Amino acid sequence: MIFYTLLNESIKTPRAVFYDARLETARIRQLEPGWEQVPHWEPVQAGERLKSTEGIFSLWERMERLGLGRGDVVAGVGGGTVSDALGFAASTWKRGGMASVWMPTTLVGMIDAAHGGKTAANFRGTKNILGTYQLPTAVLVHPEWLTTLPQEELLSGWFELAKHALLEGPEAWAQLAATPSPTLADVVPRIEASIATKLRIASADPFESGLRKALNFGHTVGHALEAWSHTHDTPLTHGRCVGHGMRCALRYSAPEALNAADAALVRWLGGAPPPVDARALWSYMLQDKKNEEREVREVVLDGIGRPRWDVTLRFDTFEDAWTALQAPEA
Ligand SMILES: NC(=O)c1ccc[n+]([C@@H]2O[C@H](COP(=O)([O-])OP(=O)(O)OC[C@H]3O[C@@H](n4cnc5c(N)ncnc54)[C@H](O)[C@@H]3O)[C@@H](O)[C@H]2O)c1
Ligand SMILES: [Zn+2]
Repeated sequence: MIFYTLLNESIKTPRAVFYDARLETARIRQLEPGWEQVPHWEPVQAGERLKSTEGIFSLWERMERLGLGRGDVVAGVGGGTVSDALGFAASTWKRGGMASVWMPTTLVGMIDAAHGGKTAANFRGTKNILGTYQLPTAVLVHPEWLTTLPQEELLSGWFELAKHALLEGPEAWAQLAATPSPTLADVVPRIEASIATKLRIASADPFESGLRKALNFGHTVGHALEAWSHTHDTPLTHGRCVGHGMRCALRYSAPEALNAADAALVRWLGGAPPPVDARALWSYMLQDKKNEEREVREVVLDGIGRPRWDVTLRFDTFEDAWTALQAPEA
């Protein structure tokens, strides 16, 4: 399934395909037979480290070695770390001008990261503090990739899918909320609607001056937890962190939103977040780029499908919510 392409020619002959080294190139060529002609196949080590300054530097080095420049098309095959990092490197290389094509291979990539044109890199442990806006010319969604995705990574995407449903409205949410434990059969039929929500919101406000901020629901606390977890041996997935972040934000949202959404989220998460000190998370939250004047800005729900953004969050409000999540009966 080709989800969309702005410039049809671009997918025919990328000059280079940067792909997650965990994936087989034969599988990529099978899905895009036209790519037999691609001269350069570049494996990358996917993961948050690809989004570090060293990771971005290594992508620029390859662009230089391959002589890539304006008018060339680069393709990225992999999850959100590949499209974020390659998108950032490509959009800054020679001041942009290269076209990008994404073939997302994770659920996070398929429904979220590959769409909407936000590129991102991390700096000194702060997630996504560097970035540009550049729309891909095409996004090639092949749900077949999900058959080899580990369950924990599928679940990671499920939380972004759930976020889209919570932003879409009560009907979309009700369809998801009854799912006991998400499987491939629950996911695949929902991909298209989830992409539609992302594109509806992102295209209404491409540079995030208003509505698009709603897509950060769960991410203020989620990014802090994710950054914290990357300083430990067993990092949590992006989506799982967003899941905990949504539960936290529901505690200072309207009670009707909390009542409608919390039980399903905790069921999918399988329990409380790790017992991280609220102060430690807060220090990460203060780095968040959504903030203004050193205040932490949050997204809350006034109801299902009714997000409100730029809400100033006080430390004690956050601490109460975070502490409540740790309680066994929460
Ligand atoms: N730009 C955006 O709008 C946006 C939106 C959401 C998330 N993101 C970013 O996306 C990143 C998370 O994305 P992700 O979860 O896709 O991360 P990822 O790229 O690290 O992929 C997750 C894991 O799955 C493996 N993998 C990928 N495809 C596979 C397949 N088909 N089969 C088996 N294993 C496979 C990868 O090697 C990796 O270990 C975060 O950095 C987040 O900030 C960006
Ligand atoms: Zn996300």
